[in-house]
Amino acid sequence: MAALISPSPAAPAGTPPAPPCSFVIFGASGDLTSRLLTPALYHLMREGLLDPGFEILGVDRVEHDDASFRKALGEALHTLGARNGIDEAAWDRLAAGIRYLQGDFADPETYRRLAGHLAQRAEAGGQANAVFYLAVAPRFFAPIAAALSSAGLLTENDKGFRRLVVEKPFGTDLASARELNARLLAAASETQIYRIDHYLGKETVQNIMAFRFGNGIFEPLWNRDHIEHVQITAAETVGVERRGRFYDATGALRDMVPNHLFQLLAMTAMEAPNSFAADAVRTEKTKVIEALHNLSPEEVPRMVVRGEYDAGTVLGKPRAAYRQEPDVAPDSRTETYVALKATIDNWRWSGVPFYLRTGKSLAVRRTEIAIQFKRAPAVLFREAVDGPTPNLLVIRIQPDEGISLRFAAKVPGREMRLGHVEMDFRYAEYFQAEPQTGYETLIYDCLTGDPTLFQRADNIETGWAEVQPILDHWAAHPEAPQLYAAGSDGPACADELLARDGYKWLPLT
Ligand code: BG6
Repeated sequence: MAALISPSPAAPAGTPPAPPCSFVIFGASGDLTSRLLTPALYHLMREGLLDPGFEILGVDRVEHDDASFRKALGEALHTLGARNGIDEAAWDRLAAGIRYLQGDFADPETYRRLAGHLAQRAEAGGQANAVFYLAVAPRFFAPIAAALSSAGLLTENDKGFRRLVVEKPFGTDLASARELNARLLAAASETQIYRIDHYLGKETVQNIMAFRFGNGIFEPLWNRDHIEHVQITAAETVGVERRGRFYDATGALRDMVPNHLFQLLAMTAMEAPNSFAADAVRTEKTKVIEALHNLSPEEVPRMVVRGEYDAGTVLGKPRAAYRQEPDVAPDSRTETYVALKATIDNWRWSGVPFYLRTGKSLAVRRTEIAIQFKRAPAVLFREAVDGPTPNLLVIRIQPDEGISLRFAAKVPGREMRLGHVEMDFRYAEYFQAEPQTGYETLIYDCLTGDPTLFQRADNIETGWAEVQPILDHWAAHPEAPQLYAAGSDGPACADELLARDGYKWLPLT
């Protein structure tokens, strides 16, 4: 059991509450509001990080009044939302500020009434801060932003800020992401737009920077001289569940790679920023993604493989084949698994492969970054040279958050034999921090005006630019993805991708 050496940074002691604000949720009756936003806001309230004047204003077409909307959110929170039971006093403080505005997103009257409400609040409370959270289907992002702008609701003044939070998916390819950026930027300035990638709200993702740049011992090794290859895995046990319609039109590549996996890659490979100022960090991350080798059409089939889950057993329960899932076309060719080899054409990383894989209905849920260091020269311990290289650093993003380092050690005995041992740091042992949804940090940062953990327009477009050749190639060659049994480690083609370079994926189980 590890001992805590210095105080837990997870404790929010000393963190100031966010300023008073109206948190206007478009799509308030949807899944995201009840499943993620309400628990996150409740956690912030419980931690004392929301101002007593904080308001949640739900906007949606669904019929509700203030009381019934408050009740619906309360029921959702009590059934599925909070960790460690509900602190009723904290919930009551949050609930006191919950209101509802019924209206159609396409009707200008909705925005007139919203403007009236915010003006009244500003009059009464002396501040006009508002965050507009677009928890809606992507086709509404640009029209809502335009309508807010036309109603003057995105104009900031000395009475308050106006911010727009945009959920994923941000576009479906490079052209649509560019168009969406252009339309949002016609309605608001870049500094007002907060594009969510919820991976950035995860403590362990933020810890990658702390680990790399807060320690002096890793950075000198963090380059092509010492690192052989990197594996980034985001394995899920869930299938498509009730999202068949969305997922079948999206697939694993679009859903996970240009956003979440590229964020992990950028955090792992970026240069140290000059400061932790939002733009310094975001610029360094964009530079890494820009430096990814752009695949030619000939390279795509060699560097990128796709799979689709067949029937199988996941965590002991039978799972239907992807094509049998609700709202999935019976002849679908959508990939539920993708693996690719990326290389970064810059001084630090030239020649170091970064292998990325993600998939649904796999054997385990695990997101991790594995850094495989080069082996020691084969001068001593020759017998160990043919075995796997000992030095592996694994950053476990979720679950079982932590970091482990594997190295060679002498096996006790008369002869000199080497075995592999592991040093392991587990978050849960060191810090008593409770698991978060990730949205707590993101919402708090948005309320306090810190965009570091949000995607800038160019971050998004660069990600799409890198996967565009893959999308183009697949559109021109719509082959069926290779099947893998649900509950397995993925398709055989993913193993072959690494085997060609003489490597193996870390086993999932
Ligand atoms: C979402 C994807 O962005 O991320 C989902 O749309 C995926 O398909 C999810 O399941 C994974 O997030 P997490 O936090 O569970 O790793």
